[in-house]
Amino acid sequence: MEFQHVLVVGAGQMGSGIAQVVAASGRRVSLHDSSPGATERAFETMRVSLEKLAAKGGADPDETLARVSAVKELVAADLMIEAVHEEISAKEAVFRAADRTLGERAILASNTSSIPIAALAEMTSRPDRVIGMHFFNPVPVLALVEVIRSVETSDETAGAILGLARELGKEPVEVRDGPGFVANRILMPYLNEAVYALQAGIAEPEAIDTVARLGFGHPMGPLALADMIGLDTCVAIMHVLARGLGDEKYAPCPLLQEHVAAGRLGRKSGRGFYSYG
Ligand SMILES: NC(=O)c1ccc[n+]([C@@H]2O[C@H](COP(=O)([O-])OP(=O)(O)OC[C@H]3O[C@@H](n4cnc5c(N)ncnc54)[C@H](O)[C@@H]3O)[C@@H](O)[C@H]2O)c1
Repeated sequence: MEFQHVLVVGAGQMGSGIAQVVAASGRRVSLHDSSPGATERAFETMRVSLEKLAAKGGADPDETLARVSAVKELVAADLMIEAVHEEISAKEAVFRAADRTLGERAILASNTSSIPIAALAEMTSRPDRVIGMHFFNPVPVLALVEVIRSVETSDETAGAILGLARELGKEPVEVRDGPGFVANRILMPYLNEAVYALQAGIAEPEAIDTVARLGFGHPMGPLALADMIGLDTCVAIMHVLARGLGDEKYAPCPLLQEHVAAGRLGRKSGRGFYSYG
């Protein structure tokens, strides 16, 4: 088995899901987060998810969780998957530190939604071993992984990560580097337009989401989906798209920015376009 020990950096919504699926594949996981209490919350989230899966015949939650350890600092591993918030300076710092800490053969991957992989590779002495591994939320449920190669990523690195994604039970799709890659280049303008429709008073949030669910056959509407992703994350991705593609049409709608400024970040803060108990 390749990648017997995986370091996951960032234990939020995505990091906890990634740690869970990697541990469920039989690998050892070290989970690091810089915020107090974050890894404890991640263990709770993983347990709830694993118990739901166990009720449908999945593995024993205790056995899977026993493979995950919280670590206070970055540690050497065969692979790092970075899942800190969508801000380039934070990710660059993690990549610089990981390059110092992980052995020279280790691969450094990012779960970034939009930041070019080449910019992160530049922070390291191993740009051929840096790659994007973009999971979807919720990680234990959704099958897609965008595997993003920069111009520097080697065939060996891409092959190993495509293989790992399949071993995690995912369906990898190989894409080239560029702001937002494929998924968020398409998704974010759609979510943003839904917020513009709300801002213009065209319809209430429930009506906008019902149109997408019943009219487009989507499992959830754009405003509920934005709340699930995190409105701060959506805004950060839209800024990367607008800057990277040099087109203000990708910039976040003022109403979306107002929600973030007011601390309404979606489900994770209890309130976004909807309220959560
Ligand atoms: N939310 C989604 O639907 C989604 C989907 C795919 C990809 N992503 C991407 O995944 C990444 C994480 O998103 P999220 O939704 O899990 O965010 P989140 O806010 O839930 O979690 C981010 C975590 O990173 C931690 N962190 C911040 N700086 C750190 C550092 N220097 N070292 C260690 N930990 C640090 C924070 O304490 C927090 O726990 C982002 O790049 C985002 O774009 C998000």
